Amino acid sequence: QPNQFQIKVVLLGDSGVGKSSIVVRYIEDRFYEDLEATIGASFLSKTIELQNKVVKFNIWDTAGQERYHALSKMYYSDSQAAILVYDITNRRSYDAMKQWYRELKEFGPRSLMIAVAGNKEDLVENEEVDMNEAREFAASIGAIYKKTSAKTRYGIDQIFREIATKGKYT
Ligand code: GTP
Ligand code: MG
Repeated sequence: QPNQFQIKVVLLGDSGVGKSSIVVRYIEDRFYEDLEATIGASFLSKTIELQNKVVKFNIWDTAGQERYHALSKMYYSDSQAAILVYDITNRRSYDAMKQWYRELKEFGPRSLMIAVAGNKEDLVENEEVDMNEAREFAASIGAIYKKTSAKTRYGIDQIFREIATKGKYT
């Protein structure tokens, strides 16, 4: 049907930034204080209605631990969108996020829609990365930028909705 489309979305970022938590919040509307690190990758999907269209997100939540790094390529190479997640209270995770961008630019699909998520917005008092810096970086690479919190749900629906509305999918 012309008003239905699917979007394969991959989440990438350091271990512990909250990739799985974002997906669990989005799909199940739950949050766990002590979620276990992802092994390999996990797949979940969600269908939404958006401006008279039906959009199915096929979401690949990758493992951020270094030993799984090489696997990630399998998941991003045929994705339409990527969410690059960092933890706003952890500068290293921000640098790692930029490194993921460089990898995608070199090895990822050319028409990949990229969204940057500054997660753990609820911990803003411990912020190590200024939001303006992150927003400017995102703008410079043509990416969506959103602050998110898997804990409070802040920005979670919005980032997926923007991915659906701002990209070109068939
Ligand atoms: P890997 O699977 O190892 O790559 O990690 P991940 O990016 O999937 O991180 P995960 O979702 O497992 O979250 C790591 C920890 O951060 C968990 O204990 C979560 O409870 C916590 N966490 C995730 N998102 C948030 C958030 O928005 N706010 C707060 N306060 N904690 C969060
Ligand atoms: Mg995980």
